[in-house]
Amino acid sequence: MRILVTGKNGQVDTALQVLGDQLGLEIIRIGRPEVDLAQIATLEDTVRNGRPDAIISSAAYTAVDKAETEAELAQSINGDAPGELARLAKELNIPILHLSTDYVFAGDKDGVYNENDAPAPVSVYGRTKLSGEEQIAAQTDNYVILRTAWVYSPYGNNFVKTMLRLGETRDQINVVADQHGCPTYAPEIARVVLAIAQQVAIDEDPTLRGIFHLTGQGETTWAGFAKAIFEGSGNRGGKKVQVQPIPSSDYPTPAKRPTNSRLSGEKLDKTYGLVLDPWRISLDSCLDHLITLQNPTEG
Ligand SMILES: NC(=O)c1ccc[n+]([C@@H]2O[C@H](COP(=O)([O-])OP(=O)(O)OC[C@H]3O[C@@H](n4cnc5c(N)ncnc54)[C@H](OP(=O)(O)O)[C@@H]3O)[C@@H](O)[C@H]2O)c1
Repeated sequence: MRILVTGKNGQVDTALQVLGDQLGLEIIRIGRPEVDLAQIATLEDTVRNGRPDAIISSAAYTAVDKAETEAELAQSINGDAPGELARLAKELNIPILHLSTDYVFAGDKDGVYNENDAPAPVSVYGRTKLSGEEQIAAQTDNYVILRTAWVYSPYGNNFVKTMLRLGETRDQINVVADQHGCPTYAPEIARVVLAIAQQVAIDEDPTLRGIFHLTGQGETTWAGFAKAIFEGSGNRGGKKVQVQPIPSSDYPTPAKRPTNSRLSGEKLDKTYGLVLDPWRISLDSCLDHLITLQNPTEG
């Protein structure tokens, strides 16, 4: 099976490549400089020539704060490009799977978000990602939108790597403790997304299509996540770093973040029988990759 993936250096597209290779799937990653999602005309030939059996739309403008001042660019990449990919998928009669985000929600719900909750993004990034969802649904019925959150991995840039880097030079780090969410490991996203891609490529059942939430099991705060990172790093010989919980008001950012980002994985489980590992288990795998495997003679 040949799967076209957008993104060449990102967390999820890299995890898709790594697992796809292991599973014997042919993963074709497209991205800059040949394909620029901000230049939609660069997509058509590449997608057609790839002759894919499915498209995974993973690439995005993910600089949440910068998006506040680059709304037009973020809209092209996060909103219009997925719409164009869906148009091409429809023409090629293949499914499109698309990564979306918890940031489509306002974050003011008292409880976990499910797929029927009304989106109400509070940032430019969230609005452009919601536009991507809408533009896909306007082009084809043969789509699976997977909303994930708090993505981390050994690849690219993410919170785990930032914490470990800051920990090298600091003994104490202030971390926001009033935003709640589900850390999600990119290789786990890849496992589920590739399973879904293989299924929807051969099964036309409409109940397999639509919007699904896809996050690591369990929940925490950024401060809780940071504490677990330093605990795990300490267990692998890393230095002890104190995490000081702070309110979001002490860490102002250009983009507003949802206070509650918790997504329910129940629909994904009921529909596909797919569940992600608990986030702490996945965090251990990530730390093994980042620390233990990179320093195999230590510890
Ligand atoms: N990271 C999170 O915490 C998070 C949370 C919820 C949802 N998501 C969603 O999950 C998906 C994957 O996220 P991720 O963490 O893997 O993202 P990432 O690591 O930031 O990677 C983004 C990818 O998109 C590519 N890209 C950006 N602009 C592009 C353009 N104009 N043309 C072509 N490629 C472009 C980047 O390529 P370059 O290297 O060339 O920039 C990179 O390969 C995204 O759709 C994101 O919205 C992520």
